[in-house]
Amino acid sequence: MEQRAIAVVGATGAQGGGLARAILADTAGGFTCRAITRDPGKDAAKALADAGAEVVKADVDDIETLTKAFAGAYGAFCVTNFWEHLSGDREKAQAKNLADAAKAAGVQHVVWSTLEDTRKLMPPGDTRMPMLQEKYRVPHFDAKGEADAFFAGLPVTYLITSFYWDNIYAPGMSPKKSDDGVYRWVFPMGNKRLAGIAVEDIGKVAYGIFKAGRQYIGKTVGITGENLTFQEISEKLSKALGVPVEYTAVDADAFRAFGFPGADELGNMFQMYRDFEPQVLGARSADVARSLNPSLQSFDQWLGRNKARIAL
Ligand SMILES: NC(=O)c1ccc[n+]([C@@H]2O[C@H](COP(=O)([O-])OP(=O)(O)OC[C@H]3O[C@@H](n4cnc5c(N)ncnc54)[C@H](OP(=O)(O)O)[C@@H]3O)[C@@H](O)[C@H]2O)c1
Repeated sequence: MEQRAIAVVGATGAQGGGLARAILADTAGGFTCRAITRDPGKDAAKALADAGAEVVKADVDDIETLTKAFAGAYGAFCVTNFWEHLSGDREKAQAKNLADAAKAAGVQHVVWSTLEDTRKLMPPGDTRMPMLQEKYRVPHFDAKGEADAFFAGLPVTYLITSFYWDNIYAPGMSPKKSDDGVYRWVFPMGNKRLAGIAVEDIGKVAYGIFKAGRQYIGKTVGITGENLTFQEISEKLSKALGVPVEYTAVDADAFRAFGFPGADELGNMFQMYRDFEPQVLGARSADVARSLNPSLQSFDQWLGRNKARIAL
């Protein structure tokens, strides 16, 4: 069978890494993995090469390199990393480069990892949360949502992702031990549910979209693993890890005032999840995710596999 290459942006990272591993694991699937990185010498790139990927150097900030990296590929998985530079405008410029390069290279199926433009949820004069970077509510959502327009006209599937449960073991995110031995964390989420997913499953869903092919072109696919409140997540962590974990809901202004880098951005994001729970959950489906990735994990399944990584 003729092999079709999927160029995977972010292959050394979380979303793209999941897709790269899914392609490489399915040796009879008819696809090959072209892993794109700025640094083919890094360990994650070498591991992909060892597993059978073609590793190609390109930079999302440099359209020439991207166009070359996409040349001859059947598919392209496009993701931007807001957290590396924290600029909505730069994220949009990177997304435009990805779309323009895919067009120039004649890619036949693009999966664009996006999020919704949260400004559409609130009238411009709404004062519940500050505007950030002058024009965004949640810059890493809004910039991706606005960038959807760059991909219009391409054979694209818009993949709306969810909060990674893997954030729980990221530095700074996990519940912190208090003097009384209780592990505590606070979010401005009230008792509303958070759409969450094992990040490895995002890549597996993306692979399912490439395999399903044309029927997903022009479509938006919103995915979640499971929607849980932080109270429910805390109870599950307590049970699995054998330590008391307590969640406290805080006011969004208080969260934004914590002052750590990105506190305002995350404060707006969690407030948006809280205030627009029906819209956020309504845009994402676990059934759709499971239809594209039959091994989609529940939170309990993810926790069972990852609890050793959560250093409580
Ligand atoms: N954390 C969450 O819960 C969550 C949920 C939904 C969506 N997201 C979104 O996910 C995005 C990040 O994806 P991720 O978590 O998969 O990233 P990640 O694990 O942090 O890895 C970033 C990837 O992007 C690549 N990259 C970054 N800048 C690049 C550039 N200029 N040129 C080429 N490649 C570049 C890196 O490749 P090299 O370093 O090898 O070049 C790396 O593979 C963010 O925009 C975030 O908003 C996050």
